[in-house]
Amino acid sequence: MIRNKSIISIDDLSKSDIFEVFNVADDMLGKIEKEGSTGLLNSKIMATLFYEPSTRTRLSFESAMHRLGGSVISVSDVKTSSVAKGETLADTIRMASSYSDIIVIRHPLEGAARLASRFASKPVINAGDGSGQHPTQTVLDLYTIRKELGKIDGNTITMVGDLRYGRTIHSLIMALSSFDVKINLVSPPILRLPEYVYSMVPDRSNIREVDSLSDVIGDTDVLYVTRIQKERFSDQNEYQSVIGSYSITSEMVAAMKEKSIIMHPLPRIDEISPEIDRKPQARYFKQAYYGVPVRMALIYMILGD
Ligand code: CP
Repeated sequence: MIRNKSIISIDDLSKSDIFEVFNVADDMLGKIEKEGSTGLLNSKIMATLFYEPSTRTRLSFESAMHRLGGSVISVSDVKTSSVAKGETLADTIRMASSYSDIIVIRHPLEGAARLASRFASKPVINAGDGSGQHPTQTVLDLYTIRKELGKIDGNTITMVGDLRYGRTIHSLIMALSSFDVKINLVSPPILRLPEYVYSMVPDRSNIREVDSLSDVIGDTDVLYVTRIQKERFSDQNEYQSVIGSYSITSEMVAAMKEKSIIMHPLPRIDEISPEIDRKPQARYFKQAYYGVPVRMALIYMILGD
C-alpha cells in the first residue's frame, strides 16, 4: 500500500506494490485509449520541481496528472524561481507542500529527493537524483518488459553503457533482484556498476560483468541501452575516453532473438542509430509512452480514495 507515501527509492515499493501498479496502469491505459482522461483526482494539485533538464519524466508526470483530472504547478527552470535568489531546497519544499498535494522533484544531487521528503508535509516522488535513483522509471521499465514479453521472470537482461552514473540502471538492478532473471553488464571499465549498488542486491550470483556485447547478445531477451552522460563527469578527459563506446548496429540487432526487445530510458545520443527504430525489437518509444499510464497509476495510488 503506497497511499500518502513518498517514493524516493525503488525499495519504497514492495513487489506486491509493483504488481498492483501494473494492474492499475493497465486500467489507466484503457482509460487513456478510450476516453483520454478521467476525473479521479479532480481537486488535487501536483507540484513539479525540476532542477535538472527533463523531457519524458516531467511531461509524462504532468500529462498523467492532467489525465487524472488534477492540476499541475511547475518550476521547470529554477533560474526563474527564488532558488536563483538563494532560497534553500528545504524552504522551496515547504512552499511546494503548502501549495500542492504531491511533489515531484528532479535534482542533480544524489540524496536531494530524500532530503526534500524530510521537509515536505506531502508525498514526494523522486524523478531522478543525480547518479542515485529514478524509481518511477524503473516501474515503467518493468511494466514495459511485462507488457512486451508477457513476463519478467525467466528473462536475460543485458545492460549496456553508463552503469556507474546511470540512475535508471541502479534502480532497475535493485528491483530485478526480487525476480528470477539473469543480468549481463557491459560497460567500459571506468563506468562499471558501483560496489554500493551490488551491496544492495541480496544475491549477486545472477549478475555477471561481460567484456563484449557480442558474447551475450544472442542470449539476450532485453537489451537495455543507456547514454554515457557527459554531465556526470567531473573530468571531461575521462568522458572523452569513453564517448561513443557503444553503438547498437543493424548487424548486432540481426544477432538478437526474434522475440527480444531493445529498451532505452532516453534521451539517446549516438548509442542507438535511427535506423534501429524500424526494427521489430525497438521498444524505447513504447517504453516512454508507458510512462503516462504508470505514473497515473502511481499518483492515483498515492492520492486516490
Ligand atoms: N527517462 C528520462 O528520465 O528522460 P528525461 O531525462 O527526458 O526525463
